[in-house]
Amino acid sequence: MRRPVVAGNWKMNLNGQAAVELAAAIVKGGIDGSADIVLCPPNVYLMSVVDSTRASSVGVGAQNAYFEADGAFTGETSVAMLVDCGASHVILGHSERRQLLGETDAVVNKKLHAVMASPLVPIVCVGETLAEREAGKTVEVVRRQCEGAFLGISEDQAARVVLAYEPVWAIGTGKTASPEQAQEVHLDLRNWFEKRYTSALAQGIRILYGGSVKGSNAKELLSKPDIDGALVGGASLKADEFLQIIAAAH
Ligand code: PGA
Repeated sequence: MRRPVVAGNWKMNLNGQAAVELAAAIVKGGIDGSADIVLCPPNVYLMSVVDSTRASSVGVGAQNAYFEADGAFTGETSVAMLVDCGASHVILGHSERRQLLGETDAVVNKKLHAVMASPLVPIVCVGETLAEREAGKTVEVVRRQCEGAFLGISEDQAARVVLAYEPVWAIGTGKTASPEQAQEVHLDLRNWFEKRYTSALAQGIRILYGGSVKGSNAKELLSKPDIDGALVGGASLKADEFLQIIAAAH
């Protein structure tokens, strides 16, 4: 039985007060402990969100990390710094970083290796663009992204990873992959893990769906056998909506 994960990716939204209030409202909303709940605020609010969630089982994640340990990398944040701030998770390879900030599979791989040397749980994102889906390349693209990200990653390390399938055309667009479309890709990804590692690893790894997940569609998506939770953007900025998604994961 895979334990569900519901992660909120707040992206570059909110201010300090709003971040703390949102975290407090989610903690108060009745987390029953049957799923891993993770809030991913902008880095500058990490410590205050860690403070607001301290008495709960809610985890706090960063939206990115750099792969070098320290040095002259202006504007970057190391994995050790995130740990120091109290983070438990980190998102890697989000499509906005790949598309807008030039992050390649090779960079995602370096970041994953850096995170593996820390206690953080990585949430590694893969997903195809609309053009790639229309060209029938979805499976090829997500497998290539997985091959790149998991290069040199051992089975023990991979077992700690949470994967997120996020079709780029469904992110922030209001267009959700149908539960059947998502399930098909999730199953294919699970098969990829079986070939790359073992059946035990494939059966244990958690694969989240992301892309316009809302309170109203979460139940249908999360009821699919290979969808183990959600990575939520827009709808994670409203406590009620996010709590509905959490309820759907239980
Ligand atoms: P969305 O974003 O839920 O707003 O589509 C998901 C994500 O980018 O993780």
